Amino acid sequence: MAVRGGGVIGLSVALAAARAGFSVSVFDLGSPHAGSRVAGGMLAPLTEAWPGEEAVVAQGVEALALWPSFADSIGVPLFTAGTLAVGTQPGDLADLRPAGELLTSREIRALEPSLGPAVRGGVYAPGDLAVDNRVLLSALWKACLDAGVVSSVDGRVTVIAAGAWSGALHPALRSIRPVKGEILRLTHRPGALPPPRHTIRALVSGRPVYLVPRDDGLVVGATQYEAGFDTDVSVAGVRDLLRDAETVLPGIAEYALTEAAVGFRAGSPDNVPIVRWLEPDVIAATGHHRNGLLLAPHTARLVVELLQGGSS
Ligand code: GLY
Repeated sequence: MAVRGGGVIGLSVALAAARAGFSVSVFDLGSPHAGSRVAGGMLAPLTEAWPGEEAVVAQGVEALALWPSFADSIGVPLFTAGTLAVGTQPGDLADLRPAGELLTSREIRALEPSLGPAVRGGVYAPGDLAVDNRVLLSALWKACLDAGVVSSVDGRVTVIAAGAWSGALHPALRSIRPVKGEILRLTHRPGALPPPRHTIRALVSGRPVYLVPRDDGLVVGATQYEAGFDTDVSVAGVRDLLRDAETVLPGIAEYALTEAAVGFRAGSPDNVPIVRWLEPDVIAATGHHRNGLLLAPHTARLVVELLQGGSS
């Protein structure tokens, strides 16, 4: 079997298939803009759900339950402190209310003392996880090699897992579109406040921003545009992300801005992933939009079930 795409979906599929006894190859073009390379790494089905994308939430909840054993099987640590979804304006707090019990400003600060004075309250989602996406990709490659996966395009069955680039690989996937996102990496410097313990997802006067902890800093994301394969990091994108992130966590002003990148999510027409046989010997595993990391073990399981069931 040949997997086209070495992002988190392609590698998770390759690993699961190899562990199920299939002979597997992976081919990847190595784009620096691949979604899983630039991702924030939130594994947060409820706080990541956008209005109109409810169909993905149930899959996300199932996927989250798979993550601890999946991560353990490839030796990847998870950030387990959970997510704080916070807001700065009464309207932001009203938008957060469906996500859970609203905590006061004092209660939310007891959980994350470095939050700025503009944060007026929020919701704590203790079950959400996060992962360092680049640690994950390296560990997946290593686990794939250990399981006998080879780097080539050969195989009887092809699995198209090329993210935003999948549309070029099969006519049935032409509707897959790139959804541009700008994202920043900030590195802790001596004397600065330590990175937050929790993932923080904020609404700042209605604008969404997230801050995902890393061992040495944090990731701030992300803009979202329909702009084709535009690889420019815009001044406005960086300005908005930094302004809103600093409102939430003023201490980041002392951090180093070490990366500003563009990545492309794979949007399907309804933003729901496409995981199915397209024709005998061709399976699609794409269209994961903002949820590729979260859904990876779930999609891998589905693809192995498809392979074991056969194309008929
Ligand atoms: N899942 C985060 C993002 O797509 O920006």
